[in-house]
Amino acid sequence: PVTADLAGRHVVVSAGGTREPLDPVRFLGNRSSGKQGYALARTAAARGARVTLLAANSALPDPAGVDVVPVGTARDLREAVVRAAADADAVVMAAAVADFRPASYATGKIKKKDGAEPEPVALVRNPDILAEIATSRPREGQIVAGFAAETDDVLAHGRAKLASKGCDLLVVNEVGERKTFGSEENAAVVLGADGSETVVPHGPKEALADTVWDLVVERLPGK
Ligand code: PMT
Repeated sequence: PVTADLAGRHVVVSAGGTREPLDPVRFLGNRSSGKQGYALARTAAARGARVTLLAANSALPDPAGVDVVPVGTARDLREAVVRAAADADAVVMAAAVADFRPASYATGKIKKKDGAEPEPVALVRNPDILAEIATSRPREGQIVAGFAAETDDVLAHGRAKLASKGCDLLVVNEVGERKTFGSEENAAVVLGADGSETVVPHGPKEALADTVWDLVVERLPGK
């Protein structure tokens, strides 16, 4: 049975993958489908939360009873997170955010020039949204959770990322061309800033989402 342990709480979830445009036709993107973030939004709503879902380029249908805010780039997502996090009890960043974007945007489609080698694409850094929210905590007692998508040395990279981002929880999952992205299932270790490690075996993305909310609820200050 579902308990309404998030009733009266506002939670913000990001999902999907940002797209960083090069010109009106092309972008730098990633393989996130949005499924893990949408599972977090659905399970939080089922547990009674008011949910704001910041959805980056996902083709999934809007979950019932969830406030969905579509976003495109990392900078769009940052603005939406800052706005929504102001009164949020918890922020969970499941979106795959581009660390870099093209340094310039061509307003017309980039053409290939006969015989010429392609121009290299210069990149600049995007804002680190998770680190910003985790260090600024727009609301007192707010719980901030991130994800770490790793392809190798998954736990070691996850532990380093938890320390550098300053969040309360970091969900470490392994990704690859055919792993986790777009699939219905996931497996993870959820690292806590308090040193806790919660192993979530391979199973539906909803099961991992529910474990994340269990860990968030344990850490939320009383009303
Ligand atoms: O959408 P699916 O197909 O279901 O796939 C799910 C998933 C693999 C995308 C998801 O489970 C996941 O791991 N999401 C995080 C992907 C990611 O961007 O990981 P990262 O290790 O690059 O980033 C670490 C954390 O910082 C993430 O919480 C990310 O949202 C955040 N971040 C990253 C860069 C940046 N500039 N700003 C950020 O806030």
